[in-house]
Amino acid sequence: MRKSYFFPKLWRMNTVMNTYARFPLTLVRGEGARVWDDADNCYLDFISGIAVNTLGHAHPKMNEALSDQAATMLHCSNLFHIPKQQQLADRVCASSGMAAAFFCNSGAEANEAAIKLARKYFFDQGSARRTVITATQSFHGRLLSTLTATGQDKVKVGFDPLPPGFVHVPLNDLAALEQAIDGQTAAVLLEPLQGEGGVNIADAAYLQGVRKLCDEHGILLMLDEVQTGIGRCGTMFAFEQAGIRPDILTLAKGLGGGVPIGAMLAAEQVAASFSPGTHGSTFGGNPLSCTAALTVLQVIEEESLLDHVQQRSQQLMQGLEALQSRFAVISEVRGKGLLIGAALDIEAAPLIADARTHGLLVLSAGPNVLRLLPPLNITAAEVDEALKILATVMENAQ
Ligand SMILES: Cc1ncc(COP(=O)(O)O)c(C=O)c1O
Repeated sequence: MRKSYFFPKLWRMNTVMNTYARFPLTLVRGEGARVWDDADNCYLDFISGIAVNTLGHAHPKMNEALSDQAATMLHCSNLFHIPKQQQLADRVCASSGMAAAFFCNSGAEANEAAIKLARKYFFDQGSARRTVITATQSFHGRLLSTLTATGQDKVKVGFDPLPPGFVHVPLNDLAALEQAIDGQTAAVLLEPLQGEGGVNIADAAYLQGVRKLCDEHGILLMLDEVQTGIGRCGTMFAFEQAGIRPDILTLAKGLGGGVPIGAMLAAEQVAASFSPGTHGSTFGGNPLSCTAALTVLQVIEEESLLDHVQQRSQQLMQGLEALQSRFAVISEVRGKGLLIGAALDIEAAPLIADARTHGLLVLSAGPNVLRLLPPLNITAAEVDEALKILATVMENAQ
């Protein structure tokens, strides 16, 4: 028999590359905060596609807007003016206080655009400033630039040579940041609340201090709100709670409610450094993704979801604190809005598996933190239901 040299191991290999440690579950449909697997088991979704399904699943307004847009035009390229992109830019700029937006397809791309813009801004001034300072335990994405920006070594192993120009300092340590700033520094890039890194809050006083330091040194403050933005923390953007404003802001995840879209927004004098040919994306800001984002923003407003997030946040935090007083395994409850972490004295993975068998989907943030990310329109009854399941899970973990 003739030997095949082309596909010798195909029979053994999954055709999807092995980049994710997946839960043993296949989700096939969703409605509101509930999802169903391929055996028709129902789960309460406190993951929301990792802070993506802002309005839950199959929101009627989203279904209608997307099917109308799909029947009209999916894509036409940035060779042409795109009215929905302009509308979305107007809207996100008005709510963030930024002057202009660039649209892409993911959080990593939004941060890549931010890093490029910061460098180009100083290049245009004839300045040598190019370096970006970020925080340890941060997460900024999986592109070569953004994994180098990320303050966790585990994402970098095997990918060298990494691009130069990134420095890391501990979060909430203003003196360490001040010491790291030198004549090469172009920008500081921070998450107002580190999601992937363990639900670690950047204190308001720290963010105010960072803003001041950036102003004093004439460098840029860039905030990565890929996970915290679009109402997730109870205000449209988490930075509002510190009473500051960045020079560059990145968004993705919740912005499209499930349709891929990212955005990098900038203050006027900074945004002016991008001109035709300096940056771009084939799919960025196409009519379909912009329609999704416009619908997310419209529903957040129409359904007063920012107030709702604050109320549900209080309910969930209080419920978790009550569990903390009953179960020693919970060492701390922290977070903002509906980005909440329960730090554990034990590994989170077995508890996550147990929650799943009881019909609740939750995830981790690092090995010891349970992370809860329900959709912004989660109901009070659903929060109570989740807390009841978590009580059972904690009981089983004792
Ligand atoms: C704060 C933050 N920035 C960037 C990213 C990367 O986003 P994406 O996976 O869409 O590239 C993530 C993803 O978890 C994130 O949480």
